[in-house]
Amino acid sequence: MGESDSATSGIVVLISGEGTNLQAILDQAACAELGAPVSAVISNRPGVRGLHRAREAGVPDRVVDHTAHAGREVFDAALMAEIDAWQPRLVVLAGFMRILTDAFVRHYRGRMLNIHPSLLPLYPGLNTHARALAAGDRWHGATVHFVTEDLDSGPPVLQARVPVLDGDTPDTLAARVREQEHRMYPLAIRWFIAGRLELSGNRAMLDGEPLPPSGYPMEDLNSEASHE
Ligand code: GRF
Repeated sequence: MGESDSATSGIVVLISGEGTNLQAILDQAACAELGAPVSAVISNRPGVRGLHRAREAGVPDRVVDHTAHAGREVFDAALMAEIDAWQPRLVVLAGFMRILTDAFVRHYRGRMLNIHPSLLPLYPGLNTHARALAAGDRWHGATVHFVTEDLDSGPPVLQARVPVLDGDTPDTLAARVREQEHRMYPLAIRWFIAGRLELSGNRAMLDGEPLPPSGYPMEDLNSEASHE
């Protein structure tokens, strides 16, 4: 599919680094599992692994370098222009490590998702795995949510829990969480593209019903194949 074909109805993924979530998304897009193509991958950092993953998958990759822009508003305006050139149905933040301006977030309200490595509302912000360990939590996890003006606090869509094990380090715990992330993010995207998932006011809705306040529990999906 050429760039102009995929630009009309696809997904734009924003990254800053490794891109393992991006890879999970690209893998499902490659076998048409998502219901829409990935139109473009945009990074705010040049040279990161995620950009190579895009290229390997034959997906256009772009860089909008935040260090080349004088301030947050100017950067966000440039990023918005690049995203909108692809006319995406959905914008997916996958390890995109920039705080976005309210104007940017409002522009994509209801069509922008993020994944955060904690059981929101616990631990918005950085170093979530170390913070869960320091607190002595028995459970940790990840949350997919709609992006609103509140950092890492938009309406949850899906939440996955993992146990914290004796001897866990931030890295071992992160790896266990990441496995869940790679299952849950493509699923949330599929729901959105299929028209099943929407933001209504400040609530995420699935099939016209409000989702639970902390999002649909991934563990329930194991026994409810109907949602897959
Ligand atoms: C993930 O842990 C995600 O939850 C967070 O940033 C990390 C990105 O990892 N938002 P990757 O770049 O997808 O490997």
